[in-house]
Amino acid sequence: MTVVVNKKRPLDPIDYFPSGLVLPAVPLAVQEPNALLRGDTAAAVQDLFAAAADDGVGLTLVSGYRSYQDQVSTYEHWVAQNGGDTAAADRISARAGFSEHQTGLAFDVGQDDGACTLSPCFADTAAGQWMAANAHRFGFILRYPDGAEGITGFSGESWHYRYVGLDVAEAMRAEGTVTLEEHFGLPAAPGY
Ligand code: DAL
Ligand code: ZN
Repeated sequence: MTVVVNKKRPLDPIDYFPSGLVLPAVPLAVQEPNALLRGDTAAAVQDLFAAAADDGVGLTLVSGYRSYQDQVSTYEHWVAQNGGDTAAADRISARAGFSEHQTGLAFDVGQDDGACTLSPCFADTAAGQWMAANAHRFGFILRYPDGAEGITGFSGESWHYRYVGLDVAEAMRAEGTVTLEEHFGLPAAPGY
């Protein structure tokens, strides 16, 4: 639950497959198997989405579990989108074996009307604002904050949340640390 995956810390083994993946009972903007999450994460996601709905904020699950092979395709997609520029792709997409999505502990969240999905402006939507203010109460952290690229290796992703459990999420809030690397005293991972 507290594993740190980054450009210096690949999955082990590189094609790791999490056991106990389940489909969370929340609105989906992606099809199985990429909506699956680990059981603990899925339960927390359900509580999180229900609390958002109680506050009048509609969330949707945009991407959950991705296998090693899914990440091969995802990374290749972003390289192609950037005209073959791997340095540009490396700022927004992990290479296969280096993505938190492969753990089943991470998910990309969207607003139910599709506004600003996977875009920087998601931070300004009601969903993005609600998540930033409340995700920690359910054991989630914003994994790639703006301004932390020198530590995480990725530009800001206001939609990518990682389940770490309540203790770590609340401790980071109390400490004011914004990355897992800082919280656990691990080296920065700006590159591979
Ligand atoms: N976009 C995040 C960094 C991933 O590919 O896992
Ligand atoms: Zn993500």
